[in-house]
Amino acid sequence: MPLSNRSTLSRTARSTRLSTVIVCILVLACGSEADTRDATTSGSDDFAANYDEALIPDYTLPDPLVSLSGAHVTDVDTWRTVRRPEILASYEQHVFGETPKGPFETSTEVLSAEPALAGVAIRKEVRVQLTADPAGPAFIILLYLPNSASGPTPTFLALNFYGNASVHADPDITLSAEWMRQNDDFGIVDNRATEATRGARSSRWPVERILERGYGLATLYYGDIDPDYDDGFENGVHPYFNDVVGGPNSWSSIGAWSWGLSRAMDYLVTDADVDPDQVMVMGHSRLGKAALWAGAQDERFAIVISNDSGAGGAALSRRAYGETVARINDVFPHWFNPVFKRYGENESELPVDQHMLLSLVAPRPLYVASAIEDRWADPRGEFLSARHAGPVYQLFGEDPLPVEEWPDVGTPVMGTVGYHVRAGGHDVLPYDWERFMDFADKHLRG
Ligand code: GCU
Repeated sequence: MPLSNRSTLSRTARSTRLSTVIVCILVLACGSEADTRDATTSGSDDFAANYDEALIPDYTLPDPLVSLSGAHVTDVDTWRTVRRPEILASYEQHVFGETPKGPFETSTEVLSAEPALAGVAIRKEVRVQLTADPAGPAFIILLYLPNSASGPTPTFLALNFYGNASVHADPDITLSAEWMRQNDDFGIVDNRATEATRGARSSRWPVERILERGYGLATLYYGDIDPDYDDGFENGVHPYFNDVVGGPNSWSSIGAWSWGLSRAMDYLVTDADVDPDQVMVMGHSRLGKAALWAGAQDERFAIVISNDSGAGGAALSRRAYGETVARINDVFPHWFNPVFKRYGENESELPVDQHMLLSLVAPRPLYVASAIEDRWADPRGEFLSARHAGPVYQLFGEDPLPVEEWPDVGTPVMGTVGYHVRAGGHDVLPYDWERFMDFADKHLRG
């Protein structure tokens, strides 16, 4: 499978890239999605995304199966002992920053466990204190399990954007008192959730349907791990891990959110009602980036699911389609480490591309979901990334994506790597969840 997009791209096409971008600014014909969906932007606003396949730069992807010594990796043992650690280290050094190594001084308290949702669920709330400091950062895991379950339940774990109470109108969910991104539509007032926040995001969380299909759902608020703004890492968990904060590969916010998913996993594997071998990490958008990095590092996650994760997530950086490395670093500097800033407009120098992040999930099942109107996240680039992770799956004798070409909208494909592109825009829809559960059925119950 060639790792180049094409052998040549005419010089004229490349040199017209800049002028086309300028024309786009003038006629406002492209880049319209450039960040209207986010209120935490801090960078310049003169970016116009490329949405023209013909203007994608010529690129060659690094080969996940060629180690830094130049040797080809042809067996699982060499992958596990040499190449996988190299790629993990590259992601720490060049993209997400260094992850603190344990053991961690976390502590856990089950706050409640009771029937909920008209009796179809058991709802638990579990507080996880993230450091030894009782006044330090902590999160609450909201866990719904099917009341009908006869044993430990396979469970999805996902971070949420607006606090646990935003996930469902269930009045007994603890309302977060922590800082949140401002959002009038979701009842966030002065950066705090209010009663109006309850269930505000429920369209993205079909809890009853998840339970009906025999799965559990665990979720926690990402801002409890690290509030999502660029403050020099003075809040959240970072101040407690000074050995990995500061310097070129400083631990980033995405790094911290991923780490938090693993701390939630530390609890889930101890809950007798959760199947510890069947916890699936899922995330949307920036939280999809975090889910991928969590799933790459922490092999306890049985299945890893990315929804519309885009730049820095599933999308190939070298395509520079939609959101680019330069743009994401400009607007969200805290999401990545300082070294990643070097690769803006310079993607070809990156020692990794995102198919390698996906390949770290192998041989565990991996699902990548895109939305056709979500051009900012480069749906085709997400597909190509999943496809180019295939050789690592094949090394394990696992099925790569079963197709070579980008499938039609609404046509999911499922090997050990799965993918769909659905109709519509940047969101998590019931369609996405149904496919995640189909994929889980195939791999956990097939
Ligand atoms: C912005 C950002 C994306 C991110 C998205 C989100 O649009 O540019 O990279 O995925 O926010 O998290 O909603």
